[in-house]
Amino acid sequence: MSETQPPAPARKPRVALLFGGRSGEHAVSASTAAGVLGAIDRDRYDVVPVGITRAGRWVVAEDRAERWQITDGRLPEVTSDDGAEVVLSLTSGEGTLRVLEPGQVPSLLGAVDVVFPLLHGPFGEDGTVQGLLELADVRYVGAGVLASAVGMDKHFMKLVLAGHGLPVGPYEVIRPHEWVADPAGCVARVERLGLPLFVKPARAGSSLGITRVDDLADLPAAVETAREHDPKVVVEAGIEGREIECAVLGGRAGAPARASLPGEIAVDGTHAFYDFEAKYLDEAHVQLDCPAKLPDAVVDTIRDLAVRTFEAVEAEGLSRVDVFVTPDEQVIVNEINTMPGFTPFSMYPRMWEASGVSYPELVDELIQLALERPTGLR
Ligand SMILES: Nc1ncnc2c1ncn2[C@@H]1O[C@H](COP(=O)(O)OP(=O)(O)O)[C@@H](O)[C@H]1O
Ligand SMILES: [Mg+2]
Repeated sequence: MSETQPPAPARKPRVALLFGGRSGEHAVSASTAAGVLGAIDRDRYDVVPVGITRAGRWVVAEDRAERWQITDGRLPEVTSDDGAEVVLSLTSGEGTLRVLEPGQVPSLLGAVDVVFPLLHGPFGEDGTVQGLLELADVRYVGAGVLASAVGMDKHFMKLVLAGHGLPVGPYEVIRPHEWVADPAGCVARVERLGLPLFVKPARAGSSLGITRVDDLADLPAAVETAREHDPKVVVEAGIEGREIECAVLGGRAGAPARASLPGEIAVDGTHAFYDFEAKYLDEAHVQLDCPAKLPDAVVDTIRDLAVRTFEAVEAEGLSRVDVFVTPDEQVIVNEINTMPGFTPFSMYPRMWEASGVSYPELVDELIQLALERPTGLR
């Protein structure tokens, strides 16, 4: 090669968007993918959409935002008919996606520079997919294995947060064998929490399987509902307060994480709480207020708690920290979501929008954060 020749242009980073998946939040994940497909800068990145069916099969997915949106209450779904099966090579350092066609030699989709796991719930947001990507030495957006697992499990999340001196509400855990062996004993144990109670699957999201209980007689049915999602159940004392959320974005080059202005969710009386319908299907009865109207001192407390919560679980990339603000202005951490809802209309991007970061900028920043971070133990 002659020295006068200009260097070949560097290949654009190839970003695989992973969405759908095995959890109850399959459709929510697909609608997030629709948002990212519509906003990602095609001049800067090559995009490879990969859908995961409810059965766990990875397939080449259509690169068209409209295909994956929630439209008129219709929930999108990835199926085996969407495209050929895709496998991730687990050979360390290879990081390639291969397309499998029945009866044919696998063809190469190419080396992936970053995976954006737009997955919510178990088998996606809980460290399992993150573990797969670690094995393959592929960079990915968001929290690693441990932070994802801790953020998913409401029991361990509370242990870690309380261990760091962060404020969490009173709760009890009902383990699978305890409920089977002695349901009456479990009911007696949660009585100390008073009423109302919030009964939750330990590892779920989007309010799936959660029941508000105002009468102890209704507790067994609520536990059974939660157990449809997870054999481990968390029962919490109901907290009276405003629901406030805060978006956290990891820092570049070792800088501290950044917190957005908080936003508020107000659900009207049609819903007992911020349930699945209120979140995705009945937006008319939910008011998202961004930024939330709160005294400056409370805003500062929330932003500080959000960053400390992010750091306590050792999250990376992004997280949404949800809190309750009680009538006497106490702030209690409800949960951290390491892969929060991420459509342009979701709270996470809206809170950044209100803080001066647009949705396309946010997508770009998250990919850059993933590209700059090393693979392996860090
Ligand atoms: N301890 C509680 N007190 C009052 N409301 C609660 C409590 N826990 C949950 N909720 C209500 O239920 C919703 C879903 O609970 P959350 O723990 O956030 O589960 P998910 O991970 O499914 O979002 C909350 O947004 C809130 O409206
Ligand atoms: Mg929540």
